[in-house]
Amino acid sequence: MWSLPQLPRTRTLKRIGLLTSGGDAPGMNAAIRAVVRTALSRGIEVRGVQKGYSGLVAGHWVDMDRASVANILQTGGTALKTDRCDAFHDPTVRADTAARLRGAGLEALVVIGGDGSLSGAHLLEQETGFSVLGLPGTIDNDIWGTEDTIGFDTAVNTALEAIDRLRDTATSHERVFLVEVMGRNSGFIAATVGIAGGAEIVITPERPVDDETVLEALNLSQERGKHSSLIVVAEGEDPQFINRLNEHLNAAGYQARACILGHIQRGGSPTGHDRVLASCLGYAAVDHLQAGLSNIMLGVQENRVLGVPLSEVISRRRQTPEALLEVARVLAT
Ligand code: F6P
Repeated sequence: MWSLPQLPRTRTLKRIGLLTSGGDAPGMNAAIRAVVRTALSRGIEVRGVQKGYSGLVAGHWVDMDRASVANILQTGGTALKTDRCDAFHDPTVRADTAARLRGAGLEALVVIGGDGSLSGAHLLEQETGFSVLGLPGTIDNDIWGTEDTIGFDTAVNTALEAIDRLRDTATSHERVFLVEVMGRNSGFIAATVGIAGGAEIVITPERPVDDETVLEALNLSQERGKHSSLIVVAEGEDPQFINRLNEHLNAAGYQARACILGHIQRGGSPTGHDRVLASCLGYAAVDHLQAGLSNIMLGVQENRVLGVPLSEVISRRRQTPEALLEVARVLAT
């Protein structure tokens, strides 16, 4: 459980906006619900923006009441819908958007999303003075300033369930399964899933390996008496990597099969962990805005919820901890 700071309520707020942006992540709905219910309990109105920054630019927002967030806590996806919006990269579009928000009586905006979404939020406040507050919502867990992101735990458990199933068929057929998990350029999901699923090899962008090294590791594993193996591959930058490796292993005499888990990892009911994380961050978002704090992202560090300047968050990327990669490597061999 995370401890929340006690903040003075120095800023009077009447109306705030709320959006989800970028790739959806399980737990976003729990965060939406928490922001809405906390704000309403303090007499603050909430406008829910439809489809991320695209809806913000177009002025597509709706009033949110307690009923509008009923029964969404346990659901995946985002009830507000989401988008990746190119138009918001244009500073004139951001200036027009801020004017539109002010015209509608909005005083602050909560943005739930990954690094691209948080960059947009930061620029909006920096250029126009319109208050923003970010919450880390991405399955990738690659956001600077927080040890955990909304959706990561669920994605790991979803991938793990698939891996456990693949293990059954791999054992029965004495095959090698290559399983690609998401994470863009981060190996956080792959390393975590690899450890939890007992993978024989874990391949991440942080520790790339070539086909021959994988083959050698597999041969060694066979010599030690293993007749089936599971290789977890982070998606990384090269979408063809897994297929090439699969061909290479088959050509070397293994019965290999490639399985790309893909967007399955983004869906489904959030775990209890993600629901509570999202609820605490959503609650704290209102607290921080009422304390006059903005242009920050709320994250968790050493079991505490705390604010980190968005300028810092977007200028760095959280690296997969070396220790995690090393545990994955040592336990795999
Ligand atoms: O950032 C979340 C994520 O799911 C990454 O892991 C993945 O690389 C990317 O989004 C996929 O994006 P899209 O849904 O736009 O294909």
